[in-house]
Amino acid sequence: MAAIKSAGSKGNTQGARRKTVFNCTECGSQAPKWAGQCGDCGAWNTLIEDVITTSSGGKIPPRYSGYAGESAVCNITDVKAIKASRISTGFSELDRVLGGGLVNGSAVLIGGDPGIGKSTLLIQAIAALSQRVGTLYVTGEESLQQVSMRAHRLGLTTDKVRLLSETQVQRILALADKEKPGVLVIDSIQTVYTDQLNSAPGSVSQVRESAAHLVQYAKQTGTAIFLVGHVTKEGALAGPRVLEHMVDTVLYFEGDSSSRYRVIRAVKNRFGAVNEVGVFDMSEKGLREVTNPSAIFVSRHEKPVSGSVIMVTREGTRPMLVEVQALVTESHLPNPRRVTVGLDQNRLAMLLAVLQRHGGIAMYDQDVFVNIVGGVRVSETAADLAVILSALSSMRDKPLPTDLAVFGEIGLAGEIRPVQNGQERIKEAVQHGYKRVIVPLANKPAQPIKGLEVIAVQRLVEAIEQL
Ligand code: TYD
Ligand code: MG
Repeated sequence: MAAIKSAGSKGNTQGARRKTVFNCTECGSQAPKWAGQCGDCGAWNTLIEDVITTSSGGKIPPRYSGYAGESAVCNITDVKAIKASRISTGFSELDRVLGGGLVNGSAVLIGGDPGIGKSTLLIQAIAALSQRVGTLYVTGEESLQQVSMRAHRLGLTTDKVRLLSETQVQRILALADKEKPGVLVIDSIQTVYTDQLNSAPGSVSQVRESAAHLVQYAKQTGTAIFLVGHVTKEGALAGPRVLEHMVDTVLYFEGDSSSRYRVIRAVKNRFGAVNEVGVFDMSEKGLREVTNPSAIFVSRHEKPVSGSVIMVTREGTRPMLVEVQALVTESHLPNPRRVTVGLDQNRLAMLLAVLQRHGGIAMYDQDVFVNIVGGVRVSETAADLAVILSALSSMRDKPLPTDLAVFGEIGLAGEIRPVQNGQERIKEAVQHGYKRVIVPLANKPAQPIKGLEVIAVQRLVEAIEQL
């Protein structure tokens, strides 16, 4: 009887249970049956079949089993606050998005399109880090030769960088436990799998399980971990969004890989400000940081051109000059087009409605295209005034002066609302040689600034009059 049984069960599934489940790629929730819509997050067509084999054997070393000792309730003041010690990655721009350097024991997810420069950035950072701490670079995508050749071509000092080509998470962790690196890189999380599950690497449950083991390892040993994650065509991280909840910091490469500049944005950070951006320049010698990004996102026209407005945005903790370009042309469509690149499209529709209602200028028969130069994304409302002025300038074919910078939020009642850190933005404009600014009245500096004409506006109509 026993012989028949063992012949019927295959290899390592002995003593294991196989179960088919359906995972949502959006929220990571599990359902026993397939359905067109996820019952938890309501997304459509996101349930993917997965086979799970839960083994009863304790395959994970007890160190990673998640057992953290006796639990006890304590007083919050009794918990000793340890100041997170940070290590520099060698790139001040990367340190900036991390919140001032890499924190020991933190898990950082780096997402981005294929070919945007994730592996390049990490091999450069690891080379710099290896001079101070132990480092281990685990590659599941490229061969050891490829990684080594790239490092060599980039002229990096890599004598202390340890390399590993492995994709099974338990083996990675067992080897990491021997090496005891201070910083561990997993390139990429989609190639890593665990034996405990039977589904293919890259599937939702594999990515989630493997990441859970790695994050747990980071917390228990104080190792900082970088996880590389690919982004799907729809812009979501391939695999569940749950990954974002598990890690401490999520960094995204923005823009497209055809542009020369790379912008990295912190969309979540337990150790620093979100929306902080780091700007890099992709050269034949790898990524180089751009410490003065204001200079690159503005296309300094010789003569004033219509539809172009310079705005001062503040991404994270640093003000930055960016150029907003608009093109307004007569439309022959029943629904005129509202297209934005680097901006929220609904916001544009709203601003055009405010312009019509409170500025008396209608664009319902016009196609409106708005673009932020250089592939940056501006998510803050301080761009409102620049968007409206650029659209107006394009429609009337009236250029604005080249020495003018603007910022300000527009309210639905046609009022210009103040934005945060107005003084800092004005200072940035002055530093780059701008002679005029249009700002919300509440952001007007108390003292006049030498060589700067400040036009403070309270209503949208006042701003339009400046054109
Ligand atoms: P890579 O880091 O391999 O991308 P990812 O890991 O995000 O998939 O980057 C590859 C791209 O970067 C490739 O298109 C070529 C470009 N690149 C350079 O322009 N210069 C360089 O020095 C390197 C290493 C890459
Ligand atoms: Mg890569």
